[in-house]
Amino acid sequence: MFFWGSIANKFRIVSEILRRIRAEEGDYPVLVKINGFDHRRGGMRPPEALEIARLLEASGCSAIEVSSGTVEEGLSIMRGPVFPSEALLASNFRFKSLPAMVKKALAPLLRLAMPSPKPWRGYNLEVTKAIRQAVSIPVIAVGGIHTLEHITSVLDSGTADFLSMSRPFVIEPNIVRKLQEGRQTASRCIECNYCAIMIEEGSLRCLFGKLPAKQHA
Ligand SMILES: Cc1cc2nc3c(=O)[nH]c(=O)nc-3n(C[C@H](O)[C@H](O)[C@H](O)COP(=O)(O)O)c2cc1C
Repeated sequence: MFFWGSIANKFRIVSEILRRIRAEEGDYPVLVKINGFDHRRGGMRPPEALEIARLLEASGCSAIEVSSGTVEEGLSIMRGPVFPSEALLASNFRFKSLPAMVKKALAPLLRLAMPSPKPWRGYNLEVTKAIRQAVSIPVIAVGGIHTLEHITSVLDSGTADFLSMSRPFVIEPNIVRKLQEGRQTASRCIECNYCAIMIEEGSLRCLFGKLPAKQHA
C-alpha cells in the first residue's frame, strides 16, 4: 500500500486533534505513540518519523513513544524465540475454522515459513534515539526491553527518557515494583506473543505459550 500526500497534509488531522485537546483540557499531558518503521510497502520510515516527531512537538504533544509495525502487517511485533503458529491458527479468521487435524499439520509448516522477525530485543531503539535527538520533549522507548539491565542501559545511554513495556505487564502487572524492590531483575515473559494474538478471542491474559483448552479443538 502507498500513502500519498505531503507529511504536513497527512499530519493535519493529528494537529487538529491536539489543538482541540489543548483547547478543552489545557496542560493535560498528551502522549502520542508513533511508528518509527511500519514495515508496510511505501509506509513509515525513520526520516518521515523524525519529521512527524518534530511536528508533534510543535503541536503541543507532551511525549512521544516510538514503536513499529501495524495490526494489518502484524508480524513485526510478534517477536520471540518461537513463531506463535498455534495461536495464529486458533484465532486468525483465515485459519480458525479449519479442522483440528489440519491445524496440527499446518503449525510446524507455518513456523518454518514464517520465522519470528529479529532482533527480539530493543528493535525500535535506533529510530528512538534519532527522534530523541530531534526533539526536546520526552521520548519513550518500547519493544523487547524486559530486563533491568536493558532498561538501565537504554536510559543511561540517552536513547530515551522513559521506558514502556507491554507483554511484561500482562504476565506481572506489578513488574515495576518487583524490579524497584530488587525482587527480580527481569520479566518472566517468555515472549510467546499468545497474549497479543488471543486477545481477539477473549480477555487479555498471559497464556505462557499454551492455548486455552477449547482453542485446541
Ligand atoms: C496484548 C497486546 C496488545 C497490544 N496492543 C497494541 C495497540 O493497540 N497499539 C499499539 O500501538 N501497540 C500495541 N501493542 C504493542 C505494544 O504496545 C508494544 O509495542 C509491543 O508489545 C512491544 O513491547 P513489549 O516487548 O514490552 O511487549 C500490543 C501488545 C500486546 C502484547
